[in-house]
Amino acid sequence: MSLGREVNDGGDRGKHGWLRLTRRGWEEALSDAVRGSDGGFGCWNLVHNNEVFPEPDGDGERGIEMIDPKSLVMKKRLGAYLTWEELGVSVSSSNEKDACKTILSGASGYAKPGEIVAIMGPSGCGKSTLLDSLAGRLASNVRNTGQVLINGRKLRLTYGTMAYMTQEQVLTWTLTVKETVYYSAELQLPKSMPRSQKWERADRTIREMGLQDSMNTRIGGWGIKGLSGGQKRRLSICLELLTHPKLLLLDEPTSGLDSAASYYVMNQIVKLTRQYGMTVLAAIHQPSSHVFGLFNNLYLLSLGKTVYFGPTFAANQFFAVNGFPCPDVQSPADHFLITINTDFDEDHISGDLAVEKVIDVLSESYKSSEIYKDVKSEIAAICEQEGGLIEKTGSLKASFITQCLVLVQRSFKNMYRDIGYYWLRLGIYIALGFAVGTVFYDLGSGFGSLNARISMLMFVSSFLTILAIGGFPSFVEEMKVFQWERLNGHYGVGSFVISHAISSTPYLFLISLIPGVIAYSLAGLQKQYEQFVYFALVLFASMLLVECLMMIVATIVPNLLMGIISGAGIQGLMILSAGFFRLPDDLAKIFWKYPMYYVSFHRYALQGLYKNEFQGLKFPEYLGGPPTIDSDMILKSLLQVEMGYSKWIDLGILFGMVLVYRVILFCIIKTTEKVKPIIRAFLLNSTR
Ligand SMILES: Nc1ncnc2c1ncn2[C@@H]1O[C@H](COP(=O)(O)OP(=O)(O)OP(=O)(O)O)[C@@H](O)[C@H]1O
Ligand SMILES: [Mg+2]
Repeated sequence: MSLGREVNDGGDRGKHGWLRLTRRGWEEALSDAVRGSDGGFGCWNLVHNNEVFPEPDGDGERGIEMIDPKSLVMKKRLGAYLTWEELGVSVSSSNEKDACKTILSGASGYAKPGEIVAIMGPSGCGKSTLLDSLAGRLASNVRNTGQVLINGRKLRLTYGTMAYMTQEQVLTWTLTVKETVYYSAELQLPKSMPRSQKWERADRTIREMGLQDSMNTRIGGWGIKGLSGGQKRRLSICLELLTHPKLLLLDEPTSGLDSAASYYVMNQIVKLTRQYGMTVLAAIHQPSSHVFGLFNNLYLLSLGKTVYFGPTFAANQFFAVNGFPCPDVQSPADHFLITINTDFDEDHISGDLAVEKVIDVLSESYKSSEIYKDVKSEIAAICEQEGGLIEKTGSLKASFITQCLVLVQRSFKNMYRDIGYYWLRLGIYIALGFAVGTVFYDLGSGFGSLNARISMLMFVSSFLTILAIGGFPSFVEEMKVFQWERLNGHYGVGSFVISHAISSTPYLFLISLIPGVIAYSLAGLQKQYEQFVYFALVLFASMLLVECLMMIVATIVPNLLMGIISGAGIQGLMILSAGFFRLPDDLAKIFWKYPMYYVSFHRYALQGLYKNEFQGLKFPEYLGGPPTIDSDMILKSLLQVEMGYSKWIDLGILFGMVLVYRVILFCIIKTTEKVKPIIRAFLLNSTR
């Protein structure tokens, strides 16, 4: 089969000098053109105005422009040709010592531009694991073998090389459908595209996924009902389709949808796949016969073994030949799934054979079939061809400034709408401001007020700020969205760190100012304006630091409970070494003095507040001491405060630390991204 012969074989020449082909003819012609299997036409290429495959017409026919090879420099292959060979995934079993549980074994296949591969199989058979392993996103506790190539090259498929809609939905629950898609469009679509066009694309994608009636509905979560499960799934698909990525992985795009919605959604994906030459792999549960008919190739898995991979239309015959013909009244997809489901073996109705045996028979038969040989030679042919490098979706995204602006806007809105993020904290802080103010009410200037002032300043600089860990659940949610968008290459780490800092600052300022005014004025600390401003600024810097610290913790420990405990534990250590519970000279040199006393931000906050309050104050005589106790004596001898520099330097160090913490956050995210694949590669090599 070649393009030249296709004229007589599969189609005829249509209007405007286009060659019209039937669907089958087109696919074969495309495959031959790409493979170069025909000596004479191997360097012919299929092009279209936008370098995409032409839109199919009503009958599934497409026009292909014939380009004279002599007049063109040979183009590199378009799109993403994904191949995977002998993929294996295993995990250490917790039941038996040193034993490994095999999740996936000997998986081989390919996916080509303009085609959809459906991955099907019973629940727990390894569909998501196969997609994760193709995407390079396997969990760190699993080991994998085999190779995944894209256009014949080994590429790291993470961070923006493809779009991957995972089984778990990761969305910002406070936003509406429209806001979610609009922001995503602004982030993902290239800077050369005007904003109006980005919004237009967003509108179109929302309509394509049938979400136009829910445009202004909030996604919902945390006990607030918003979108339904199926609508959330369609929204997630929207976000992945916005850029028409070269490689698209979808984990259960139709779960939660009724059969009509499943059909419309999948049909839309098929249309876009053909129109833009996307390569699509989708793990599908229970497709209706309409949906099933949309797939080009079918990958059937059970117990991690490949039962069948090949053209969808040939699967029925494969089952029939092996003694499991599909009953007339049953849809083929249902029949395949029922035949290979081991979960309910007792009720099974596949003759006398146990289902595990059935799976063995089918997978062995598949391995010795012509279809398997064809798959192997197709993989070899794809790998031999030199393909273009797949573009990172990230390289086409918005400019850094746009990313920051959009993220600030989105994050600010999320913080405003999520009561638990800052508003609840503000309420609690106001209550605590009153509590501190009334406990230390009108301290006066007697000797007793000396100790009370010290205690109050200690409480404000440490225990009041530690409460900022209350926002941790909201950080974790935001971090999840960031990590998912980051993996799909929507924006950079720098944009995220900067935008979060900007959007959170006004809220934290409010949280420091209002309770600060209440506590300060009620307690009757020094009355000068400068002293109050300093007090509020120290509180503000401490809040920023705790916020940042908790984000670092959220990056390392994404588990909610463990994160809160770790964050509180780290701050507990810092408070202990700040010089209040033990004076600085009494701290053990190892660990507590060096380095804890110097890295603890509570120390600078506490000493700054001490200097702010006690400089200029004198207290009356006590127990035969000097007639007056002046600030020098209090600060130097009693509290052992570092007096070599002013309180403003302490404040400067605090704000400097805010910067350092943000840089640490940036570095940790970047390092995690770099180190994870290296560890994975190392583990892979060590198991070979
Ligand atoms: N990181 C992991 N650690 C331990 N076991 C794992 C891990 N990942 C997957 N598994 C196991 O591998 C099997 C396959 O999981 P996978 O999520 O791929 O199934 P699935 O086919 O996608 O199922 P479903 O259709 O229900 O989503 C399951 O038994 C699961 O418990
Ligand atoms: Mg799954």
